[in-house]
Parts: sequence; structure tokens; C-alpha cells
Amino acid sequence: MTIQFKDESFRGDFTYANSPSNIPRFPFPFPEDEYMYSTNIEPHHAARAGSPFENAFDVDEHYVAEMKDRALVLADDPGRCQALPHMETAGWDFLELVMVSKARDYPDLFKLTMDGDRWHWINKPLQIDDTFTFGDSSTLPCHPMEYIGRQVQGDHAILDQRDGNLWMDAGIITAQADWSLDFDIGMNFFEWHAPVPLAHELGVFQRALKFLLTLPQGQPSRRLNWTLTVNPRLDTSPENYPKWGPDRMTVTPENIGEKVHLRVELQTFWRLPRSNAILFPIRTYLMAMNEVVTQPKWARRIHRVMRDLRPELVEYKGLSRYHPILVEWLSQFDDGAPTSPGI
Ligand code: HEM
Repeated sequence: MTIQFKDESFRGDFTYANSPSNIPRFPFPFPEDEYMYSTNIEPHHAARAGSPFENAFDVDEHYVAEMKDRALVLADDPGRCQALPHMETAGWDFLELVMVSKARDYPDLFKLTMDGDRWHWINKPLQIDDTFTFGDSSTLPCHPMEYIGRQVQGDHAILDQRDGNLWMDAGIITAQADWSLDFDIGMNFFEWHAPVPLAHELGVFQRALKFLLTLPQGQPSRRLNWTLTVNPRLDTSPENYPKWGPDRMTVTPENIGEKVHLRVELQTFWRLPRSNAILFPIRTYLMAMNEVVTQPKWARRIHRVMRDLRPELVEYKGLSRYHPILVEWLSQFDDGAPTSPGI
């Protein structure tokens, strides 16, 4: 398989866009005409060749551009990558999982050669060719989590497991939907989820934590989460709110199709072998509303989901400013035909 990597930006002139062939593989997140939080976790099995679920860590046409954007964020704010001292082993676990998976799934792009602890890693798209000693951080240019986190799409949090809870003790987070690693570092599962409305009362987090605490190694799971973002901006962090918050005021009925993006997070959960930590990749996919409505099934459904979205979710997800305009704009694509369950 050959992927044509795009030269594009997630800031400034915002040249990011999906190629027509990339649109149908978007992980559309709505299996029904209405949406509410649930404990929507399923096995992360390989599924549908060509889909984002085909491989352990999906690589697509945006890979190189996303890694450039991450480097810009880290240069500006090193606090987006933090690991408490006990998380180094987990960093090596993460590095191993990504290298082994990518070399297996994309042999034309990545190559890993292991000679005992001596590892040789080639990442062709990013032009990296490094040899290092596995487990010895002095042989890498930085912490193993940062080294591999700069080479894999999506943000990554690593959760330590102790006292019957998960603790956000490490992460490389540069493309987040309005939450802060610097604020959440050291928090537990219920603490960092505290701002989410309705889900606590529904028992979503109690069930999810119970499931994750017994997650076995070699049996990863996944779920989809979503929000909307104005402009194809990856870095919508609280730290940079002054840069992107005002964008919400720029949405008009005329520009909404190109400005408002459906932002879907493919979240996966991996038990790590040496540290017993959980790796939590949050892989973000962005798609302009103009692109979403090219698929009639999606167009109908997203109109109904947005129209009937609970006010608490509209507010929490930061959509209040342009939600009515969006629903009105989407209504032109909804012919009222019934939809069947599933995506
Ligand atoms: C939101 C982290 C697992 C459900 C969030 C937020 C963070 C987060 C940082 C943003 C909270 C804020 O507003 O500041 C994580 C981490 C996980 C994890 C590190 C790995 C263990 C889960 C699981 C579920 C879940 C397993 C449910 C099955 C949610 C929901 C939201 C949320 C519903 C609100 C999202 C929205 O409306 O956009 N999570 N989460 N999370 N999380 Fe998690």
C-alpha cells in the first residue's frame, strides 16, 4: 500500500482537507439518529480493509503534516509532554508497541530490527534512521514516550494502575479537544472526568473504569468520541484558547460548510506488558461539514443528531454559539428518509 502524504497545515492558512478517497474511510461516530453518552467500548479487532480500524495504529495521508504540527506545539510549550518519574518503563512499553505494530502493518514505511537489546528503527516518511539500546534512555534523544509520540498520529496518555484506579501520570498531548495535560497530570479517572455532564449520573464512568482495570494484555479495546471544531485546528488546548476560542464567532450560514469540522476521536485502550499501565491513544480525525454531507447517509443522520442533542452536551462541547445555524444548514440535506441502525 502506498500512501500519498499531504503537505498541509492545521493553523494559519488551514490548508488541511481530506482527499475524496479519504472521505469514505472517516470513522463516522453515530450508529443511530440520536446521541447520548454510553459505555461504548468494543474490542479493537482488525476490521474492514481500508478502514481506520484495519490496523493497530492507523496511518493515513495526514501523518507527516500532523507530526510537523506536533513538533510546532512542543517547541512552543514543552509542558504538553510530561511523564512522572515512575513512568519510564511504561514509555518503553509504548515505544515497543508502536514500533512492532507499525513495522508489521506498514512494512513499506517502517522497519524494526532487533538484535537483543540493540534496536534499529527506520521511519521512512519522517526520514528517521536510529539505533538505540531498548531500556536505556541515554541512547535516545529524549524520553521514550516523547521519542515515539512524535512519530505516531494522535495524542497519547499513559495511565498508571494502583489503588483500584487509573492515574494520568504521563502523556504527550498536543491535539486535544479543550483539556489540559498540565492540569490533569497526576489525577485519577474520576477526577479528570469531573467536568463531563450527565455521564457520571448514568454510571458510564463507574462501568468504564471497572472494565479498564481488568483489561488484558493483547486484547485492546476501542471507542469513538466526537465534538466539533471551527477550522481544521488540531491544537484546541485551554493553553491556547485565545488563539481558537474567537473562531467560534466567525461562523456564518455562508461559511459553515467549510469552517465547522466534525472532530472524531478513535480512542483505544492497551494493557502494557512490563509496567501494567494502560496506553490511551486518542487519534483525531477532522472532516469539514461540506465533506461530511457528500455521504447522504451521514448527512441525514448528523442533522438529526445535532437537532436533538441535549443542551448540556451542546454547552459542554462548546457549540452554543453556532449550533442553531448548523442545524438549519444541515436540514437541507435531510430528506426525512428512515435510516437503519449502524454506520
Ligand atoms: C472526556 C480522558 C476513558 C468517556 C474526557 C476528557 C478527558 C478524558 C481528559 C475531557 C474532560 C474535560 O472536560 O476536561 C480519558 C482517559 C481515558 C478515558 C485518559 C483512559 C482511561 C474514557 C472511557 C469512557 C470515557 C473508557 C467511556 C466509556 C468520556 C466522555 C467524555 C470524556 C463521555 C466527554 C467527551 C465529550 O463530550 O466530548 N476523557 N478518558 N472516557 N470521556 Fe474520557
